[in-house]
Amino acid sequence: MHAGKTDSPPALYLMTLPGLETLAAEEAAQRLGAEIKRVHKGVVVFRLHSLNREIFRLRLAEDVFLLLWGTDQLTYRARDLDLIETWTSREPDWERVWYWHHQIRPRPRGKPTYHLVCQMYGEHGYRRVDALEALARGLRGKIPGSWRPVEEDAAVEIWLTIRGKTAVCGLRLSDATMRHREYKVEHLPASLRPVAAAALIWLVQPDPSELVLDPMCGAGTILAERLGFARAGRILGGDREWSALRAARANLEYFRRFRPAEEDQYSWPLLRWDARRLPLAAKSVPVLACNPPYGKQISPDEDIGLLYRELVPEWHRVLTSPGRAAILVADWEAFAHPAERCGWQCRRRYRVLLLGQEVWLTLWHKR
Ligand SMILES: C[S@@+](CC[C@H](N)C(=O)[O-])C[C@H]1O[C@@H](n2cnc3c(N)ncnc32)[C@H](O)[C@@H]1O
Repeated sequence: MHAGKTDSPPALYLMTLPGLETLAAEEAAQRLGAEIKRVHKGVVVFRLHSLNREIFRLRLAEDVFLLLWGTDQLTYRARDLDLIETWTSREPDWERVWYWHHQIRPRPRGKPTYHLVCQMYGEHGYRRVDALEALARGLRGKIPGSWRPVEEDAAVEIWLTIRGKTAVCGLRLSDATMRHREYKVEHLPASLRPVAAAALIWLVQPDPSELVLDPMCGAGTILAERLGFARAGRILGGDREWSALRAARANLEYFRRFRPAEEDQYSWPLLRWDARRLPLAAKSVPVLACNPPYGKQISPDEDIGLLYRELVPEWHRVLTSPGRAAILVADWEAFAHPAERCGWQCRRRYRVLLLGQEVWLTLWHKR
């Protein structure tokens, strides 16, 4: 039987930061009506009634794939390599997945190019390159011999991701812009990964009219993600560094094209300030989202706990009652103590692996 438009699309999966998968599944279900099949470290497997480019609106996903196969039965032993080869060659309905791949990523002109990727986390009795070769063997006869392997910008990418005894293999639908974002033209060393910034916004769920404050905005990633969800919104950012404010301004520039003409150009203010003494009225901000510096030590004689003890009462002052704050920190205790002392309640908390470091993504309510 030939695959056609009337067929429902095959299962898909998205990849996100490990620890963000529950929130990413929530976003896929609520914004795209996805039926969630499996949630595992950094991966969400789901189905959609119809598949189109709407899928790239997901902000908590770094990449989206058509699922070729998945398992949680790897053995860590060399036998896995035979399984990878067999599953790759036999499991997928290749005709159907190619059909859907072309719907989203039309065939480029000229000779098609392809690229195989293998990611492997955890200790296994074989190397990543062995798994990659097993994948390539499984693909014999599926990828025409005339296709050219390339390292970058391939028309077709097939990824195998192994984490412990689970593996997913898929045909990549997204390109690098989903992960890196089109708006991001300026980077700072401490810039947040866009999906983590999006997760902070997802936690606070701002209404279109609600002002979102990032008092330590750096390159503006959190504010940009707030605009990214709705392509509009009221935001206010500040930082003590001019260089950060310049970077934030450049990154927010992308969203100007979506703004209604009648809105004045200063409605996205970025101000130089000390986040411990904000030039804002008491109870004037309903939503705050921020990742303050999170090193254990910011200088030899100043610990992060002291900074948080000075920040939180000031943020408490400017937040409305009730008010919401989404905060990303590495040292949970150092932030939780002053927050609880102000009467804030932690409503949601996620441990996320960010650039090899475990951090906490938290939602706080001020009563
Ligand atoms: C972890 S970075 C924030 C990164 C930002 N979310 C991004 O994606 O680029 C922390 C920021 O806090 C700023 N900062 C540190 N102490 C500050 C203070 N007392 N007042 C205002 N900003 C401060 C730093 O300049 C830095 O840009």
